[in-house]
Amino acid sequence: MEKITAATVRADFNDLVAVVHYTRAAHELGLWASERKLIERFFPDPSAPLLEAGCGAGRVTVALWALGYHALTAFDFADELVDQARSLAAERGADSGPHAVRFLSADATRLSDCHVIRDTRFSGVLFLFNGLMQIPGRQHRRAALRELHRVCAPGAPLLFTTHDRNSSPSERAQWRLEKLRWSRGEHDPRLLEFGDRYFDESGVGRTFMHLPDRAEILADLAATDWTHEFDGLRRTIAKESKAVHEFSDECRFWAARK
Ligand SMILES: C[S@@+](CC[C@H](N)C(=O)[O-])C[C@H]1O[C@@H](n2cnc3c(N)ncnc32)[C@H](O)[C@@H]1O
Repeated sequence: MEKITAATVRADFNDLVAVVHYTRAAHELGLWASERKLIERFFPDPSAPLLEAGCGAGRVTVALWALGYHALTAFDFADELVDQARSLAAERGADSGPHAVRFLSADATRLSDCHVIRDTRFSGVLFLFNGLMQIPGRQHRRAALRELHRVCAPGAPLLFTTHDRNSSPSERAQWRLEKLRWSRGEHDPRLLEFGDRYFDESGVGRTFMHLPDRAEILADLAATDWTHEFDGLRRTIAKESKAVHEFSDECRFWAARK
């Protein structure tokens, strides 16, 4: 059986079920309370050029624009989602004038292919709602971290999220079983590394996700020259609405600095 690749992930995000799911969230949900709090803390200057990686249908970027962040560039490698993001920006008036949002099609692991991103020095970068962890293969996630580091100015913050592998006793028990399956070679053969999951959820579509532990992310940040500054579970940052809980599970926020 074929291993999951970036092409698998891109096709899954371009699939109609996923497009409808993320487009609805972009239109109706906007920023989570925790995202807003951390963005205001780590990105205090709304005039600074910011880059959003894995912007999907524009949930974060269009909401940031409405908050007065007016030097935004956002990209995703799923063109169907980028089209939806552009359409939402047009609907909200964020697509024209000197403060227009730039939505681009690009792959986080190959930013040098996109001259607009390559030729800009960003004052900060966001990769929210687990996009980084949807890159299959640790070396590719590190490549994305390196690429984002390269397009940032010194001192720029990076904010991203992951799902903890060890956040509850039942999850710990499930992952102990999964470890046993890996040691016996009985795991899903499409997966690349222990910690990977590939699942199909009704109304969301097929999702690849790597669930790291804390040590792994600390090592990845250090290996890609990012200085870890903060991490914390979402529930410790803000109380979220029922709609946010329906859209997304608990996650860990990470902030690092170039
Ligand atoms: C869970 S979705 C989140 C979308 C959006 N940020 C939101 O919060 O609604 C993760 C996004 O990361 C994007 N993504 C994953 N790997 C990527 C890569 N290598 N380059 C660019 N985008 C990527 C996916 O296409 C998807 O839109």
